[in-house]
Amino acid sequence: MRYKFIIGTLMKNIVLIGFMGVGKGSVAREVLKHSEYIAIDTDDLIESMENRKIKTIFEKEGEGYFRKLEKKVAKWLENSVQNTLISTGGGFYKQKNLKKIGIIVLLDSPFDAIIERIKKHPNAEKKLKKRPLLSDLEKAKELYNERRPEYLKLADIVIDVTDKPAFECAKELLKKVKKYA
Ligand code: S3P
Repeated sequence: MRYKFIIGTLMKNIVLIGFMGVGKGSVAREVLKHSEYIAIDTDDLIESMENRKIKTIFEKEGEGYFRKLEKKVAKWLENSVQNTLISTGGGFYKQKNLKKIGIIVLLDSPFDAIIERIKKHPNAEKKLKKRPLLSDLEKAKELYNERRPEYLKLADIVIDVTDKPAFECAKELLKKVKKYA
């Protein structure tokens, strides 16, 4: 079944939040197949603004610099973007204006399930390498434990994505988001 949302009838952005590797990109791509949304990704925006990879930005400039770029993107999203599905990096939830950008949808899953999901992927090594904050899994778990309660506080909608194909998560998302249209 195709869930259609015609541009112009839905004013609010959808902001996908959640931990690294939870599947925000995959779910976003499925939402696009079944709706009229246009999608953007905050990490992609930052990479094109800087013309270099996130990994390089972290290595050369440090995390603080990256977070400043996220802040710039967050302001632009609030002021200039509508009717858009916005996938965010796992730390983007810290932006103070997040709730002003759109409906917040959390993709939720336990830490171990997220790591399993990444490891099962044919490009697992690449997926781990491109994320500086996943290089040490013990630290990443601490980060997950710190962040999860914050993600839950911010979320208007929570989707448990554990062991669910992306198209099912997308279907659930579009159904739940309808209430906010
Ligand atoms: C980060 C998550 C990454 C990326 C950067 C920092 C984080 O995005 O923004 O490496 O702080 O959790 P993904 O969640 O898409 O991996």
